[in-house]
Amino acid sequence: MRFTVIDTPAEQSACDLLALPILEPGTLSGTAAKVDRAVGGRLADLAKAEGFSGKPGRSVLLQTPDRPARRVLLVGIGAEPNAERLRRFAGAAIRRARELRCGRVALAADGGNAGGWAHPDERVRAVAEGAGLGHYTFDRYRKADETGEVAEVALLVGDGDRTLLDRAAQAAEVAVRATCRARDFVNEPPNVLTPTALAEAARELAKSAGCECRVIDLEEARTMGMGLFAAVARGSAEPPKFIVMEYRPGGARRTVALVGKGITFDSGGLSIKTASGMRTMKGDMAGAGVVIATMGALRDLGVTSRVLGIAAATENMINGAATRPGDIVRGLGGKTVEITNTDAEGRLVLADALAYAVREGVDEIIDLATLTGACVVALGDWTAGVMGNNQPLVDRLLEAARLTGEQIWQLPLYDEDLDAMRGEITDLKNSAGREGGAERAAAFLREFVGTTPWAHLDIAGPAFADNRPPAPYLPAGGTGFGVRTLLRYLTSLS
Ligand code: BES
Ligand code: MN
Ligand code: ZN
Repeated sequence: MRFTVIDTPAEQSACDLLALPILEPGTLSGTAAKVDRAVGGRLADLAKAEGFSGKPGRSVLLQTPDRPARRVLLVGIGAEPNAERLRRFAGAAIRRARELRCGRVALAADGGNAGGWAHPDERVRAVAEGAGLGHYTFDRYRKADETGEVAEVALLVGDGDRTLLDRAAQAAEVAVRATCRARDFVNEPPNVLTPTALAEAARELAKSAGCECRVIDLEEARTMGMGLFAAVARGSAEPPKFIVMEYRPGGARRTVALVGKGITFDSGGLSIKTASGMRTMKGDMAGAGVVIATMGALRDLGVTSRVLGIAAATENMINGAATRPGDIVRGLGGKTVEITNTDAEGRLVLADALAYAVREGVDEIIDLATLTGACVVALGDWTAGVMGNNQPLVDRLLEAARLTGEQIWQLPLYDEDLDAMRGEITDLKNSAGREGGAERAAAFLREFVGTTPWAHLDIAGPAFADNRPPAPYLPAGGTGFGVRTLLRYLTSLS
């Protein structure tokens, strides 16, 4: 999808569908009033007849075959205008455009009938993101459905600095592409997206995005001392891959490590999951997918920090060699772990990946993982938990998330959480009771980062939309949650 920022007045814009965001209570003023005047008041008449209130999710469609814009769509954005409302407006509009087979779409990025609230470049960015993300479909494995593709989207905005607006639209385009790539990774079935396939995808993406890529295989990982990663891989016929990507811009003043959990299928291992618990476990590599996709966008966005992208990819399966509950293994750096539950595998692969990042001497670490069902119970389907050992880092991530509309909420990390994870005859055990499951998992991870500033995002809820997604720009299946927050964060660093 291509975006162009133009300052053509909405009533003159030539397209198949012109969409306008409308605030509650649905009064047509500003841009909407001008468009209404141009169509002889028919828009206001129809809105009135249909009882249009401007509530989110409500819309009105007027056919205007005699006008440069062939159809006009009003989309309610509620009473409080903000960037997330615009994202949802654009997502809803683009879905409608697909259904109506409208190839050329114009979206009013002026902020709706309330006029120019927020910075114009933030509005343009939100509208472009919503449109790009809402356009996504995953139909590689079936005949594409009846809906049409939108080739061109004009972003209509009358105010603001041209250069900034173009840059905002371009940043949105890059973020959308990366997010959709992360969605694809999750949506690919586990028989296709094996650790080997993920490593291949990372290699190719690195090549096209100016990154280095090194893939460590099982033998090398064992030799290096990654006993926790190797323990998870033991029961699988698919070879595991420890993927390291590097983005190294000239003159970088710091190194950030992004670490992703890459379980391409989580059966639970011998502590086997139930059928319903296993059903969506192809998505257990979402963290790795987010990290790899994010790495692919860094050069396009001109990120100035050096970034290491680390993805620990393996299945968690069962065969005669599979790790047993009771096994004791040793991680990179020497800590011993008793595996008390083979379904708590994410923290094992992450622990070795975190220790690897520390060894590389990075300045800070952000990990993303579909780590615990407990986090979903605590925060719901649409909110990620964040925990860490460095409040300024956590705060900066929370701020980046706020700008993207990705919901992240901090959970506490107390010493008691670590006490629960201490082993009877080892340094640590990998699971303990159900209480505080998300925090205990994080406390386990913290043992592997030493003093390096670190933040952990538990994305078990929002990585995969199993229930009806809350926003029209979110599809069912993989959401790519985390990509936009990471990109916002990394571009905010100087
Ligand atoms: N991949 C799961 C966590 C998960 C659950 C992700 C639901 C997405 C949706 C993880 O490996 C797991 O099985 N965690 C266990 C940990 C427990 C055994 C300590 C869990 O949450 O039950
Ligand atoms: Mn598991
Ligand atoms: Zn898992």
